[in-house]
Amino acid sequence: MKPTFFSNPRLGVNIDHVATLRQARGERYPSPEVAAEIALRAGAEQITIHLREDRRHIQDGDLPLVKSITQKYKALLNLEMAASLDMFPMALETEPEWICIVPEKREERTTEGGLNLLDTKTFEMVKRICHDWKSKFSIGHQISLFLEADEKILKRALDLPIDAVEIHTGEYAKKFLLKQPIEGFLKAYQTAQDLVFHHGKKNIHAGHGLTIDSVAPLVELGLFSEYNIGHWIISQAVFDGLETVVRKLNKVIKTKAQP
Ligand code: PXP
Repeated sequence: MKPTFFSNPRLGVNIDHVATLRQARGERYPSPEVAAEIALRAGAEQITIHLREDRRHIQDGDLPLVKSITQKYKALLNLEMAASLDMFPMALETEPEWICIVPEKREERTTEGGLNLLDTKTFEMVKRICHDWKSKFSIGHQISLFLEADEKILKRALDLPIDAVEIHTGEYAKKFLLKQPIEGFLKAYQTAQDLVFHHGKKNIHAGHGLTIDSVAPLVELGLFSEYNIGHWIISQAVFDGLETVVRKLNKVIKTKAQP
């Protein structure tokens, strides 16, 4: 199959770490909704937030506030959540344009990899959430699954009623930073894209650990339709300011995505 080149990929800005900073001191600042507004003003097309079961960063009360900002900018809200029925009512109430189902462990520092859909219990729970989400809404409310670029796992996922897969790029990003070979990852991402299209889906997203440098080869190869980036953006914003960082990153993503 001829590879697809995504020439207009979307930047989703993950603002969890603004809430992490707030929660570290139990203060009311910095505010995730202000971060969302700045990111959207700077050209991001989507805001991504993860409501974790342990509520370590984003809190329930942040959801409607951030949603009101994405609505104001006619942008997308992508709500990441664990494969658990406990999170589902919050997602239904918020009505984000996207939900992204991710694995979650309390002891992890951050999401450490994709969903293990080869595990029957996980697969059945994810399947139930996909069906429930699709039965509650008609169009305009989409679902993605956070996965490794693993053929077996992708094939299981692509039989479900999903709109996209988001590929975990954490290991790729680490190797990139260490200047170690990345060709194996790029090949696996191309195979993942082929599989997604072969199954009649049109969206393949990427996220985790990406920086302005490590995202570039992915964009230049046109591998993904969306990039969700958080930790690097918020870290760099400490020095350069959030608006400047998002503007610069968005420019790289848009200009390098030329076939
Ligand atoms: N995509 C998913 C599914 C994630 O869980 C995360 C981290 O919350 C990200 C993207 C963003 O990763 P990072 O903060 O490392 O850029």
